[in-house]
Amino acid sequence: MVFGRFRKKTVEVNENQVLEALKQVIDPDLQRDIVSLGFVKNLVIKNDNVSFDVELTTPACPVKEQLQRQCEEVVRALGVTKVVVTMTAQVRAVRGKRQIPGVRNVIAVTSGKGGVGKSTVAVNLALALLRRGGRVAMLDCDLYGPSLPDLLGFNQPVRQLGDGAFKPHQVYGMNVMSMGFLLNGDQSATMRGPMLHRFVQQFLFNVHWGETDYLILDLPPGTGDIQLSLTQETPISAGIVVTTPQKAALLDARKGVEMFAKVNVPVLGFIENMSYYLCGKCDKEHAIFGRGGGQALADEYGLPLLARLPLDPTVNDDRGEGVPVILREKDGPYLTAFGNLAGRVAAELGKRSMGWAVPGPRAFEV
Ligand SMILES: Nc1ncnc2c1ncn2[C@@H]1O[C@H](COP(=O)(O)OP(=O)(O)O)[C@@H](O)[C@H]1O
Ligand SMILES: [Mg+2]
Repeated sequence: MVFGRFRKKTVEVNENQVLEALKQVIDPDLQRDIVSLGFVKNLVIKNDNVSFDVELTTPACPVKEQLQRQCEEVVRALGVTKVVVTMTAQVRAVRGKRQIPGVRNVIAVTSGKGGVGKSTVAVNLALALLRRGGRVAMLDCDLYGPSLPDLLGFNQPVRQLGDGAFKPHQVYGMNVMSMGFLLNGDQSATMRGPMLHRFVQQFLFNVHWGETDYLILDLPPGTGDIQLSLTQETPISAGIVVTTPQKAALLDARKGVEMFAKVNVPVLGFIENMSYYLCGKCDKEHAIFGRGGGQALADEYGLPLLARLPLDPTVNDDRGEGVPVILREKDGPYLTAFGNLAGRVAAELGKRSMGWAVPGPRAFEV
């Protein structure tokens, strides 16, 4: 047998060599190498086998696979036979107001006016973050028109635990609370607005959310005093503004940005919903409500247009019995758009949790 003689010589490497090699791997968001960012953990070297973890700021990192490949390549280039890179994540909290126990990031979804698809976006964004490995919870803050029970096809009363706190429902793998679970129509009709919203705010801290990476708030529509005080008193990490392309909606979306700016909540960007109708016959985009409005708005504020979502009457299919669109689609425009959106949102929050204010946008200046 000749094989033995030709066996490759074992290359011994030490920790410093591996770390030095890994310094070539740059996190594209943070623009620094993963070693100095402290992302490399549990490095084990046994002969010519190297294994380590790379701990990112979010499991939903859009360039996770790319980073993993680069790590393998640079270590293999040292002559190492086997490299095992495990990608992990530790989601960190972004900001310092009174924190909700267990909750690392609160993302508030707003729209200047109702009916533009705020709740639809909130639900599908939440599920997309969950799909990418985040621990996700949702709170429907809309007292007069709570829509999560319908959108998720779930409506049961919530239980109050011995300590007076509420236990959220588990729906599609998320912890969900809706004012709809809590109040029946009579109660919300007899409570006055400001009182109700103070109640929401109190309520937020009185729920056993458990370990949560992303809590998504479906804010009540509008940008009046009530919404303002709700956003002011809640530890929101970032806001997202949903609009449709019509002029009136764009005007209201502006008010949404101004509201967040007033209470120092950074805005991650805009989502233009019902942007176009994708015709099955000619495969072309038809701009039914006008074109370019969302982009113009984004440009005006120096904020990104995070997604353009198509108009599709089946998006909340009544016959779907509350199954959100991204759980129904095998592949399709919503699945792609929400997948990308989740990656962008998670990456932005990851950046901010590392103390990286994104340069430029006025609304980011906290
Ligand atoms: N992209 C879309 N295409 C078609 N209908 C949509 C789309 N997004 C939302 N809708 C519909 O528009 C209505 C309002 O959506 P919803 O998410 O409840 O808005 P909001 O929370 O802003 O009031 C619902 O009937 C919903 O099914
Ligand atoms: Mg709604």
